Amino acid sequence: MIVCLCKGVSDQRILAAIRDGARTPAEVGRATGAGTDCGTCRETVADILRRALSPEGGPGDPGPDNVAAQP
Ligand code: FES
Repeated sequence: MIVCLCKGVSDQRILAAIRDGARTPAEVGRATGAGTDCGTCRETVADILRRALSPEGGPGDPGPDNVAAQP
């Protein structure tokens, strides 16, 4: 799914940036460009970060272990 229409950044690319060490929306922006134009996607980027880094995760949430396990 494309999260950032301005930069054409998908959720998978954001998760890859998180796997590579991005821990804030600004770091995701530097790594992918997401959120660095109009800013409409910034809350979605922040939500993906929260879910990916949450120790609990929820059903369907990537969680830190699953983020690390994805190719
Ligand atoms: Fe991401 Fe515009 S939709 S910066």
